[in-house]
Formats: sequence, C-alpha cells, structure tokens
Amino acid sequence: MYNTEQMQYFSRELLDWYGRHKRDLPWRRSRNPYHIWVSEVMLQQTRVDTVIPYYHRFINQFPTVEALADAPEEDVLKAWEGLGYYSRARNLQGAVREVKERYGGRVPDTKEEMFSLKGVGPYTAGAVLSIAYNKPEPAVDGNVMRVLSRYFLIEEDIMKSGTRALMEKLAKALIPEGAAGEFNQALMELGALVCTPRSPQCLTCPVMERCSGREAGMEEALPVKKKAKPPRPERRLAALVEGTGHNAGKVLIRQRPAEGLLARMWELPHTEAAGQPDAACAVAGSAEGAAQLDAYLAAESIGIGPAEWYMQAGHTFSHIRWEMDVFRCRAESSPLGADRSPLLPSHYRWLAREEMEQYAFPNVFLRILNRYFAEETC
Ligand code: ADE
Repeated sequence: MYNTEQMQYFSRELLDWYGRHKRDLPWRRSRNPYHIWVSEVMLQQTRVDTVIPYYHRFINQFPTVEALADAPEEDVLKAWEGLGYYSRARNLQGAVREVKERYGGRVPDTKEEMFSLKGVGPYTAGAVLSIAYNKPEPAVDGNVMRVLSRYFLIEEDIMKSGTRALMEKLAKALIPEGAAGEFNQALMELGALVCTPRSPQCLTCPVMERCSGREAGMEEALPVKKKAKPPRPERRLAALVEGTGHNAGKVLIRQRPAEGLLARMWELPHTEAAGQPDAACAVAGSAEGAAQLDAYLAAESIGIGPAEWYMQAGHTFSHIRWEMDVFRCRAESSPLGADRSPLLPSHYRWLAREEMEQYAFPNVFLRILNRYFAEETC
C-alpha cells in the first residue's frame, strides 16, 4: 500500500495535534451513541455552525431512541426544518424505530447490525461505531477524502466508487490502536480547519512535512473530482392564494405526497410552467404565467381571482433547480367560501400566520411565507 513510515507519522502527529486543537463541540461532550448518531446525520452536507443549534433543540425534543421512535414524523420534519435534505431525517427516524424494536433501544455496536438499518451507509456506520464505541472502523466523507488524497497524493477521481473503497481501506489502516474515535474526528477536524478545500493552511498543518501532495505542489489541485452535472432548471409557477370571508388573512397551503421529493412536507400550490425554462423573465412572463396558474388551480378545484406577480424564489436540489415565479391572488368566495368546502381537496389547508409552527415547510416556501406575512402585518 503506502509507505509505512509515512502512515505512522500521519496517525501519530494528527492525533497529537487533535488533542491540542480540537473544538469544543456539543456532541463531543456526549458519550451517548444515539446523540452521536444524530450529530453525524446532521453534519452530512451541513456546516458545523449551522448544526449546533439544531442539535441542541433536537436532543432536547427527542432525548432518547424511544422519544424519536415514538414521535410523529411531522414533529421530526419540523425540528429538521431549514437543515434541508429531509430524507436524512426520515431515514434517521426509520432506523431509530428499528433500533427500538429489534435491539431494545440500544444502538448496535457491530458493522453488520449498523449496516442493516434503513438508510445507514458506510460513513454513518463508521462514524457511530468509532466515535461512540471506539471500534476501528473508518468514517470517510468528502473532507476525509480531500485530506487523504493530498497527503498520499492520490490522483484518482473521488467521485468513483473504487476510489472511495481505496480511501476506506487506507483510512482503516491508519487508525491507531485504541484511538479510533479520536483519530476519525482528528481527520475530520484537519479537513475542516486546516486542509480546507481552497487555500489550505499548510504552514499550520501538523503533517505538512511528509505531505506528498504539498511536496508535488498539488495541494490546491487535489482532490480530483469530476464535476457533477449541474442541476436541470425547472420553471415553476406558485400561488399565494389569500383567503376571503372567514379565511381572510390566511393563505392556502397543501401537503406533498407521502413518497418522493420532500415527501409529506407542506408547500404553496405550484406547477411546472409550460414552455421554455429559460424564458423565466418574471414580469414579461407574468400574464402567461398567471393564466397557466389559474388553469392549474381550476383543475385542482380551486377558483381564484386575477393573479399578480409577487416575487421570484429558487431552490436547488441535487438534480433539479426550481426557479419559481410566485403569484398572489384571492380565492374566489365561492366555492371556497367555507373551511370545509367539499371542493377543497383534502391535502389543502388554510394557514394563519400563527400556525406556521405547526407545519414543516421547505426553505423556499418558508422564505416566501415569512416575507408575505411580514408585509401583510406591518
Ligand atoms: N463532521 C462530520 N462529523 C463531525 C464531527 N464529529 N465533528 C466535527 N465535524 C464533523
């Protein structure tokens, strides 16, 4: 594999550096495997600073495996609101329910059992096993691949599964006896604080002396990462339908289907615009957009008055980017006059400002609703 001396130097110096420089993070004060698991799921795709307040709130609200397993999914999504990638929250709860049922609430301490849980991949399994139980398992994410590719001058594309497998083997071989949790966190910490994606701070790096990437002048060029395809833009038309009569001051929202993108979260009604996605010019497109939206809502049994362009808002998923034109309109007093109008489809609700806390919205709709209610009530 790699030069043994270079490997031993890396592990020893890194661990020593971590002992002196590690940040005081809330999950590092916990020895509770469930708490560590929650933190590791939150930290995937989200920065430490963002995660900290969510972690505190989540652990307060769901302090044990049982508490999370028994909670309604809506409460979990609400606690996750703003963190994005909601399937993480759903999978976490699904896996925690399995832990409650199959293991009596004790988070498993073997690779086989951890892997068998729904949505638990090699990173999460490795992180929990090493940090909570000090098992010598690697926890390789993008940050760790960056550090290893630089130090060992690995020029393979890190988007390839073969490269990840190689990195996992290497990361496992680097774990010092009896210090798996500390070492894995040291690797993450070096990636976060020193061996950063741009302008790495090599002069403060504890392993700079033997870093092959730096010796070759390649530290900024590594890791090699083939660009993923940019997300496909999708022009969408959304409606802020204001209630009338006893629904005055309220806005029409609906719940997404139980499966697929943003499953079961709440949103403003919206539809994909017909025509060219790149014709997304808010004002010029507004008459046509309003007409399309009107026709869409009519098909949903929702009658509206004239729609006026209100704002643009965007949301990027891994493969799609929603570019949304939001239109404001009033519900026709008939047939939507009464709350329980038989014509209001069952997954729709009238939302008052003070009820926002009861529903989990993706960020893009939170932004729209917060702006709308702020303007309406000032
Ligand atoms: N990123 C992923 N896991 C982490 C951890 N345990 N501490 C800090 N940053 C992390």
